[in-house]
Amino acid sequence: MTGSTIAILPDKTTLVHYALAQSIAVIQQAIADHGYCTLALAGGSTPKPIYEGLAQQDLPWDKLYLFWGDERYVPVDHPDSNAGMAKRAWLDHVPIPADHIFITPTTEADPAQAAQRYEADLKAAFAPLQPRAEDGFPVFDLVWLGMGDDGHTASLFPHTAALGVTDRWVALGNKGDEPRITFTVPLINHSRWVMVVAAGASKQAALAQVFSATAADLAYPIRMVRPTGTLDWLLDADAAGELTLPGAQWVQP
Ligand code: 6PG
Repeated sequence: MTGSTIAILPDKTTLVHYALAQSIAVIQQAIADHGYCTLALAGGSTPKPIYEGLAQQDLPWDKLYLFWGDERYVPVDHPDSNAGMAKRAWLDHVPIPADHIFITPTTEADPAQAAQRYEADLKAAFAPLQPRAEDGFPVFDLVWLGMGDDGHTASLFPHTAALGVTDRWVALGNKGDEPRITFTVPLINHSRWVMVVAAGASKQAALAQVFSATAADLAYPIRMVRPTGTLDWLLDADAAGELTLPGAQWVQP
């Protein structure tokens, strides 16, 4: 891992503004470096104001390629859809070319087939963009992640089979009986930049375990996120609580 940083912001509003500024910088650097930026969006509720902030920006939208790190197995117009949330907050308001937005298929009868199809979509999208890493995995410029109160990330939930998938880019995950489509751990870990944004006191208990020396990765899957690039933890004070986090920087905006 190139480096891991932890920034703690006073509250959720300043956290969102900081995450937005960081994201814009990473996007612009990727475009400067190789002419485009490949992004994987997080779901859940935390990223929504960040996406709303991106909708107000003037970025070279035709140089962005967007994917989802995970998706619930519902149609895009379902209120739980991560893609639907991002479209309403951001993508429907900026001129990103439609063929640069790779929405997870969630209408196949068999979710396992949908996972395979999404992997095929990613391989087709990355083929013209970049030579594959020596082991065949693509390198995302930026992967946004959230963290559940149980230490899951994307749809990599504790003690689920998806945690053990190491030879695929996309796996069929599950939240209990609910099927999910998710990036695999190795796909996330090939990224140039992974940004985890977590807010609220409900994250404290999981964070204590994630940063402990003894917790099990399978019990707190976000511990398995160790990208070859940069790992950026962005927390608000409520999430960080009284934890002693290695190298944490309290940021006063
Ligand atoms: C999802 C997300 C999931 C999310 C965490 C945190 O599909 O739900 O991808 O991994 O990031 O559950 O969710 P909040 O941002 O709502 O706390």
